[in-house]
Amino acid sequence: MRQEFIEQFIWPAVQANAIYEDRYLLGTSLARPCIARMQVEIAKREGAKFVSHGATGKGNDQIRFELTCYSLYPEVQIIAPWRMPEFYNRFRGRSDLMDYAKKHGIPVPVTPKNPWSMDENIMHISYEAGILENPKNHAPAGLFMKTKDPCTSSASPDILEIEFKKGVPVQVTNVNDGTRHKTSLELFIYLNEIAGKHGVGRIDIVENRFIGMKSRGIYETPAGTILYHAHLDIETFTMDREVRKIKQQLSQRFSEQVYNGFWFSPECEYVRGCIAKSQELVEGKVQLSVVRGQVYILGRESPQSLYNEELVSMDVQGDYEPADASGFIKINSVRLKEYHRVQKKTAAQ
Ligand code: ARG
Ligand code: SIN
Repeated sequence: MRQEFIEQFIWPAVQANAIYEDRYLLGTSLARPCIARMQVEIAKREGAKFVSHGATGKGNDQIRFELTCYSLYPEVQIIAPWRMPEFYNRFRGRSDLMDYAKKHGIPVPVTPKNPWSMDENIMHISYEAGILENPKNHAPAGLFMKTKDPCTSSASPDILEIEFKKGVPVQVTNVNDGTRHKTSLELFIYLNEIAGKHGVGRIDIVENRFIGMKSRGIYETPAGTILYHAHLDIETFTMDREVRKIKQQLSQRFSEQVYNGFWFSPECEYVRGCIAKSQELVEGKVQLSVVRGQVYILGRESPQSLYNEELVSMDVQGDYEPADASGFIKINSVRLKEYHRVQKKTAAQ
């Protein structure tokens, strides 16, 4: 399912510059509707009337899984053990479960050495719970699985050229060695590799869950972080200023809809349609450098660029009358003069 996850869920998020509470690129949130849709498809194929998931009763994931199931298979019944008293009265928490797993020979990735919960997909990995629940505790050494420590990662950058069409990456070229990837899956895996090598995409945040509590999470989103920066750059280069302002608001709505589990809602379908429309002319190439935990934009080019070198040049006049600017500034100052006149009067009273 990796390809459909990338093309149908991650690409719309890249087009949107989707980000929750200014930092989280939504790697878990985006995966849930994709996973639940397939779960429902299989349930229907098998004639199953029940589906189940292991999300706790306190989190976002239960909402995302179940809203997707109810949207696509309205009559389905959901078994969520973490919310059933006969389950949570027997297993008081994760350590009870771990004991049970050990006793019955069930392999689990959580060990006393890794006392936290992990959720991984091709876009990201999250670490939550256990010793991380105290928000003051630093991430222990050895926690990160997708990225190298930027303090000790290579000091020589990888220079990449990422080409976009309709706001979606269609080719990634490593300028250093000529390596080139064109399919969505290949280029995404490659970006993960380069970002991982240079320690790009780590965050440690306290966020607001939909259910009404704050939680602490540490996330790695390597390829997603490079694409976030690259797309932002090519979009600003090719998109009209006023369209961009509206699109930015839609992006915030989209991020919240995705976070809250409303992928298959009328409002999210509508917003995705608008965002896709805004991306029709978002194309071109961005060159960037990836090194020591950072992504540095180096340059860009586009057949759809709205940047007019002659118009903006300090050395050429172009199709522009500098004298007109005097009137533009004066008219804009009317409001400011009035505001400060009244301020002064009030202060004098
Ligand atoms: N807090 C993040 C979110 O709500 C990550 C959740 C991770 N899920 C998990 N089952 N560990 O999207
Ligand atoms: C869970 O509660 O199962 C994981 C965290 C979340 O969904 O927010």
